[in-house]
Amino acid sequence: MAEKPVVAAKAPIVLELEPGEYWWCACGRSKSQPWCDGSHKGTGLEPMKLDITEKKKVALCACKHTGHAPLCDGSHRTV
Ligand code: FES
Repeated sequence: MAEKPVVAAKAPIVLELEPGEYWWCACGRSKSQPWCDGSHKGTGLEPMKLDITEKKKVALCACKHTGHAPLCDGSHRTV
């Protein structure tokens, strides 16, 4: 069974992203938030792929408890 994600931060990480493929850390253990650095190994959790087709600003979840991954849905207020 997968471990629970840890809270990396209690606020979203807002970034302006160029088009491309990104891997959002879902486990909260990465040292390079909000992106996966492989630290999820052994937790049963996996990163989530994010495809950006045009340059845009996103608020990425850092508490890892969002119901709208990988985007912030305000859940950091209750974790
Ligand atoms: S390091 Fe968190 S999902 Fe990969």
